[in-house]
Amino acid sequence: MATAARNKKSARRRQLEAAINYPIDWLEERSGLIGGLRYFLFRKVPGDTGWWHTLGSATLTAFLVQALTGVILAMYYKPDPQNAYQSIQHITNDLTLGWLVRGMHKWGASVFIILMFFHMARVFLFGAYKYPRELNWIIGVTLLAVGMLEGFTGYLLPWDQTAYWATVVGINLNGTAPFLGPFLADFLRGGGEIGTETLARFYSMHMLLIPGLIFALIGLHLYLVIRLGVSSPPWSREAAGSDYDADEPATNGRSGLTQPAARSGWRRNGGDDV
Ligand code: HEM
Repeated sequence: MATAARNKKSARRRQLEAAINYPIDWLEERSGLIGGLRYFLFRKVPGDTGWWHTLGSATLTAFLVQALTGVILAMYYKPDPQNAYQSIQHITNDLTLGWLVRGMHKWGASVFIILMFFHMARVFLFGAYKYPRELNWIIGVTLLAVGMLEGFTGYLLPWDQTAYWATVVGINLNGTAPFLGPFLADFLRGGGEIGTETLARFYSMHMLLIPGLIFALIGLHLYLVIRLGVSSPPWSREAAGSDYDADEPATNGRSGLTQPAARSGWRRNGGDDV
């Protein structure tokens, strides 16, 4: 009797598992995406990575929060000088949890930039920018510059006194750059004065152009993190070369995304050529 009940339960369980697995298998068979995701989530990292190595993921999380709250704000924000300030007041005072979404976006912007600096400091102090990760450092520096431009373009959008005068100062600063300065200032202003055109182009850059660029650069950045593997901390025995073995095979024959993570022999010997 008890055995029959157990069998029945396990049959139901099997049915449930099959129902859950069906769409996953369907997608995997046609795209290979599940295998790629599994590789990304369960790839090997050096055993002595620690909390410092989570700063990159924390930066990524901060950016995703900005993207999500920004999409919600864009549903209510009105990018013209007559309505911009009122629409922000409406979001903050009248909409359900509008104050929270706006607050998260406003303060989250600073969190994003600060985390980016912390992450960069970790990479610098651990020497993780060295061969073969120089390209990822360059992509990171570009991300930092583009991230700050995102902050600059967002600052004007509330269209209050602080926003206006901060933008005047920012544009004038850009205008002092040699050769390109005056063109850059004209381009940012969209004319002789800060007004409707300026707000429209800052909004377009802030919600379309720059986030798109940041998403693309993050994609490239993470691709390289996966391809090269995460580096060991400088105090690690592996980083110091104590495990170095000249006869160690440089790769296991795989390449691209399935390259084994941070094989010390592979890195030290200059990659696949060995
Ligand atoms: C949107 C901004 C950024 C995001 C989302 C991001 C994300 C990440 C993640 C998730 C990792 C792997 C885990 C880790 O090492 O923390 C990583 C590694 C790395 N990042 Fe960033 N990052 C950003 C900005 C930067 C900046 C500003 C720099 C430097 C200028 C940089 C340089 C690097 C380098 C060189 C690595 C490889 C580190 C290693 O292998 O140990 N990243 N990044």
